[in-house]
Amino acid sequence: MPGLVIVGAQWGDEGKGKVVDLLAEQADAVIRFQGGNNAGHTIVRDGETFKFHLIPSGILHSGKQCVIGNGVVVDPRVLISEIDGLRRGGVDLSGLRVSANAHLIMPYHLLLDQAGEARLGKREIGTTKRGIGPAYADKASRLGIRVQDLLDEKILRQKIAAAMEPKAPLLRDFVKDPSLDLHQMTEDHRAYGDRLAPYIADTPPLAWEALDKGRLVVFEGAQGTLLDIDHGTYPFVTSSNTLAGAACAGAGVGPKSIDEVWGIAKAYSTRVGAGPFPTELDDEMGARLREAGHEFGTTTGRARRCGWLDLVALRYAVRINGLTGLVLTKLDVLTGIDPLAVATEYSGPEGARFASFPYHQSVLHHVRGETVELPGWDEDISRARSLDDLPANARAYIAFIEEQLGIPVVTVGVGPGREEIIWTNAADELREAAAA
Ligand code: IMP
Repeated sequence: MPGLVIVGAQWGDEGKGKVVDLLAEQADAVIRFQGGNNAGHTIVRDGETFKFHLIPSGILHSGKQCVIGNGVVVDPRVLISEIDGLRRGGVDLSGLRVSANAHLIMPYHLLLDQAGEARLGKREIGTTKRGIGPAYADKASRLGIRVQDLLDEKILRQKIAAAMEPKAPLLRDFVKDPSLDLHQMTEDHRAYGDRLAPYIADTPPLAWEALDKGRLVVFEGAQGTLLDIDHGTYPFVTSSNTLAGAACAGAGVGPKSIDEVWGIAKAYSTRVGAGPFPTELDDEMGARLREAGHEFGTTTGRARRCGWLDLVALRYAVRINGLTGLVLTKLDVLTGIDPLAVATEYSGPEGARFASFPYHQSVLHHVRGETVELPGWDEDISRARSLDDLPANARAYIAFIEEQLGIPVVTVGVGPGREEIIWTNAADELREAAAA
């Protein structure tokens, strides 16, 4: 069995971690292919809550190969602290691998991220301030420092000096910041290299080997489709390609290795940070979704903006990722809301209507979701384990989404716990094939 890519179909925070954690049971490997510690996954297992930012969600399965791919940007301090935390919790880390070719987030990237946002003022992007954008910018400028460089002091020192030199004017306000001292930075990073050495590897062959054996490999995306640097709501996006297509470059496999692409979407919409959000509810309903869905960021603790499900954006996500299935999460959050609304098209100034996602920034900033109403349900759905256990109106909500998107809903989340999930027939087929 096949390569399965998991991507966020909205603006991130769709609940990818829980699905990847569940799929990891059947997988030989879980590979993250982009983003960095701007991501955050919360997994509730046996009543214990685990939070990850960099390490793939499969790590709780003892010895599972969990790979941080070359497309990820790695803050070594964060990675080491996650390793230490998991080790303290008794988690087996023998399967953890970090690509030697992944780029590093350096102390100056954090400062540049902060300074860049401060410079933008009211026009800020609302980044996570984890240094993601500056690290990817250095990668593209051929000034990046890679995980493998941590192992060679001479190369490391030269590369840090070369990377910092053109940044001097931008870092002027931070000249006295001890984290920018070249000597100290080199020493610290050599020490990080020693700590990480057991995990550093040439990672693409790990994927090839599992795929050659016909085993399930899960490629775990971070953020979401609409935060993609090419196809998202630029410039209010992250600095990597978040789409399924990025799994190939970010993990080192060819497109023919990908058999299935599942998009994860909440049963409603959320967004953190600035930028267009056509179905945003800036009212009591928005506040209700935020409370019921605990919509506060894992990484930054920021309150998420909330709104109705946006089927225009999801139809776009289906096309641009080539989705073969949709994982619908947090359906339980909608319990008790009647009627529900979902956007099927956008309206713009002067009566304009849009059935598909507008490519132009000025248009996108002014459209609003035009919704249709669907009847809600009051029953507690957290114990539903098959679609038949759901109230008729919840089934109708799912059926409406499937009809609008033209792809099957493969799993439905009905509560935060690991077991609070419905696997539909489509998902069962995939899981059985993986186990075979
Ligand atoms: P950056 O990735 O920190 O540069 O932030 C750029 C944009 O992406 C901001 O709007 C962030 O709020 C958003 N973002 C980055 N990572 C995540 C995530 O994991 N979930 C949701 N939004 C994210």
